[in-house]
Amino acid sequence: MSAAPKVPVAVLISGRGSNMGALIAASLTADYPAKIVSVISDKPDAKGLEHARGFGIDALAIPRSDYPGKADHEAAVIAAIHASGAKIIALAGYMRLLSGDFVNHFAGRMINIHPSLLPAFPGLATHERALAAGCRVHGCTVHFVTEGMDEGPIIEQEAVRVTGDDTPETLAARVLEAEHRIYPQALAMLARGDVRMSGDGQTRFGK
Ligand code: GRF
Repeated sequence: MSAAPKVPVAVLISGRGSNMGALIAASLTADYPAKIVSVISDKPDAKGLEHARGFGIDALAIPRSDYPGKADHEAAVIAAIHASGAKIIALAGYMRLLSGDFVNHFAGRMINIHPSLLPAFPGLATHERALAAGCRVHGCTVHFVTEGMDEGPIIEQEAVRVTGDDTPETLAARVLEAEHRIYPQALAMLARGDVRMSGDGQTRFGK
């Protein structure tokens, strides 16, 4: 029996792209159910663009400054995603707030990685805030993208133990290792149809 075709995925980035790199690495393994067909950045100098091109992946910059308004920019990104044939969109450090129209366009097909155990610490500076709050456990979350920032239904999480001598940097580094484990796992679950977002905005596991 031949393997099911890999589901095409677009990855949206703004910078370093290490999570994008983890998704690409996973997608190159034979039985992984998704392939990265496009990388799109709103920042032309994003390091991840060159990294993706090194794998022969179509990687393009769509700078916000090239467009008169947010809606025009988002329309260009949506057009590029459609042109790539991608069926799933993975946000990987994409530092733009997406409009409801954009989010609803890809409802149930767009996921994000966030460096905290949501619903704790949505937004920025998650490692600083976890340390300031005295958390003994921190971590990361992959979730479906909905209109509320970092509020979508959760697909996967990994906890990271906080040590007494952690700084935001040391904690971020350990959380990033966990991100690189769970993001490929969560994308594979979605591509295989083992998880979906139901009409009432909940995560449903199983076929
Ligand atoms: C990661 O910490 C991710 O959780 C957050 O932005 C960062 C992106 O890092 N959304 P990278 O570009 O994937 O290295």
